[in-house]
Amino acid sequence: MQNTVDFIKEKTNNFEPEIGIILGSGLGELADEYCDYVIPYTQIPNFVKSTVQGHKGRLVFADISGKKVLMMQGRNHFYEGHTMQEITYPVKIMKTLGVKTLILTNAAGAVNESFKPADLMIIKDHINFMGTNPLIGANDETMGERFPDMTDVYKKNLINLAKKCANDLNIDIKEGVYWANSGPSYETPAEINMIRKLGGDAVGMSTVPEAIVANYCGLNVLGISCITNAASSDKGSKLSHEEVIEAANNAKTKFKSLILEILKNI
Ligand code: HPA
Repeated sequence: MQNTVDFIKEKTNNFEPEIGIILGSGLGELADEYCDYVIPYTQIPNFVKSTVQGHKGRLVFADISGKKVLMMQGRNHFYEGHTMQEITYPVKIMKTLGVKTLILTNAAGAVNESFKPADLMIIKDHINFMGTNPLIGANDETMGERFPDMTDVYKKNLINLAKKCANDLNIDIKEGVYWANSGPSYETPAEINMIRKLGGDAVGMSTVPEAIVANYCGLNVLGISCITNAASSDKGSKLSHEEVIEAANNAKTKFKSLILEILKNI
């Protein structure tokens, strides 16, 4: 970790980020517009490279609305074959660089039938159905405790702030529980019925590992899902990655203005 941190500090003239943002599928545009320093993951010691179309794979540092922000433009996923430790390593690096608040974003399928594509959903809680946990293994006591409490991962004050910002911008905002599967296959209709019965509002293949590690090492977490599709149902409509990226594209202007407003008021 010290190698990674030293490398980043050297490349960014000792930039000291206070807010981290992980930008999900199709939502990376913010980091094209605000980019004081850019480092591709491929250059960073101990980072793994993103292999998914729609994910750029670079760290972007910028002053946005007077806040020092570190963005991950593209994340790594468990389904790419990386370990849980590898995909959550950047969160520990953010913590070490001084980040206090982490905004996690993603593209997700709607399980809640009142949600529609291009809706934004504030994550109020999650269900980890990935079958594993990024904290498995020897614990580093300097980062966090062995058995972290999980009652307050998505901070109420950040949820309220995000809602207020959405209202001020006239953005209709949903709130719900994010359910994480490992992927990469999308869900069957029977799985979606199960998720709905068990309390999930949206389903995706990311975010939960990062949220667990961020909470563990004491970061304040805000999560926002961009609903890209109605998750599969008995109604027979099929789902593709292209459709997911297209819906995220349709929401990106709204998404970007919400993030900018949150950064201004955080
Ligand atoms: N399921 C899982 N992950 C997703 C979906 C979905 O329907 N849409 C975007 N990411």
